[in-house]
Amino acid sequence: MNLWHGRFADKTNPDAFALNASISFDQRMALQDVRGSLAWAEALEMAGVLTVDEQIQLWAGLQQIESEFQSQSFAYAPGDEDIHTAVERRLGEIVGSVAGKLHTGRSRNDQVATDFRLWLLDHIPTLDAALSELQTELVERAENDFTLTPALSQKERGQELPSPPGRRVGDEGDGEGNYILMPGYTHLQRAQPVLLSHWWLSHFWPLQRDRGRLTDCKDRLSVLPLGSGALAGTPFAIDRAALAEKLGFAEASPNSMDAVSDRDFAAEFLFVAAMIGVHLSKLAEQVIIYSSAEFGFIELDDAYSTGSSLMPQKKNPDPFELARAKAGTLLGKLIGLLATLKGLPSTYDKDLQEDKIPVFEAYDTLITILPVMAGAVRSLTIDVRRMAQAIDASMMATDLADYLVERGIPFREAHALSGRAVRLALENEKTLQTLTLPDYQSIHPVFNEDVYDVFDPQQCIAKRKAFGGTAPEAVLAQLKQAQSLID
Ligand code: ARG
Repeated sequence: MNLWHGRFADKTNPDAFALNASISFDQRMALQDVRGSLAWAEALEMAGVLTVDEQIQLWAGLQQIESEFQSQSFAYAPGDEDIHTAVERRLGEIVGSVAGKLHTGRSRNDQVATDFRLWLLDHIPTLDAALSELQTELVERAENDFTLTPALSQKERGQELPSPPGRRVGDEGDGEGNYILMPGYTHLQRAQPVLLSHWWLSHFWPLQRDRGRLTDCKDRLSVLPLGSGALAGTPFAIDRAALAEKLGFAEASPNSMDAVSDRDFAAEFLFVAAMIGVHLSKLAEQVIIYSSAEFGFIELDDAYSTGSSLMPQKKNPDPFELARAKAGTLLGKLIGLLATLKGLPSTYDKDLQEDKIPVFEAYDTLITILPVMAGAVRSLTIDVRRMAQAIDASMMATDLADYLVERGIPFREAHALSGRAVRLALENEKTLQTLTLPDYQSIHPVFNEDVYDVFDPQQCIAKRKAFGGTAPEAVLAQLKQAQSLID
């Protein structure tokens, strides 16, 4: 029998019932629904609406239902339209007619909004943990991929760094103090050398901001709608502040009409999920490119790649491609919910039932993809030599300009002179490193024999030691900061 059967002479059309029903997805909020009802029964007793004995009966029934959910033995009935109906129906079976008193002063409108918020409050920490797990892998990579010698120990990290030996472009690193370098790109064009660790950590910080956003989202959704009734509030003397505290909310909602319609928290969660998706897609895209034969910087572990049914040589970076794709579906969920919310009046409209699917799906997507990303990052191998070989002398053209700046030439002019050296090299099929000193002196007399020191990428990196730069000591400080955030 429908919860609203009194006013209706006819039964609901079965197809209309199926359309109306949300049990297939809102049963994920079963435990939250029971928790809300336990607190509501207590609030009703405190308000003098239920006797102590009635509350005890309701509690016993609700606790049994809770354990049925926990042991997955709860039997749904064909008429269970949604999770709220299912719990109430089962409560009636267990405790009899007193079950009918539980819904006093409450509506499914304030109930569902409460359950949904409780669900997110329960699940955001799990998502946060999955993010921090991926961050941990990124930090570990940054730590282990710092020099060609094995991972720096905690102790060594505090110590003075070995000074980089004088090296030229294309040298293969092989010893202590040889920081692992890679070409840094802008516009996907070789730009300047960076430490590989710096690149790894460039994917750490976006996730750190996402975790901050999750915390904000959690704080803002910590408002209790229960006690708002259908829209106008509850006529009973419910202590909503106490109820909020009981259920772990920071406060009770100040406007009952807003409370039953507010789904900002769901949209905010979906924004954070989409943002995480975008961040994962950026990491994924780089890994995909770097694992192509053309780059050859990265090789994925067999456990995190797939082959081709046709081409025996293929090793495909599927997990990263899927991560890249899922950013798109996550974005769609955010836009979909915002479109659903647009133009809705304050108070509850059935449209709001559509809020849960995207949130559950977004959560599931991230909980599935994050551990795979973490494992793939942990297990991939880096071709340090390929990375080093991809650094060419032209990537030090800025340092060449800086060389002139150090000799008193204004940067704008120095930039143009360095550009001329690049052009001269290109025109003569040379590199900045193989241009002769007379070549350089034809550009400007200030050039000296020491100009060739500029083309040591290790030195180039070592100079960028201001906070946030790619110099080894700056990256170590960054690493420490990142480490302390995940510890
Ligand atoms: N299943 C509904 C939902 O998820 C519960 C609220 C129903 N309220 C109503 N007035 N029909 O939104």
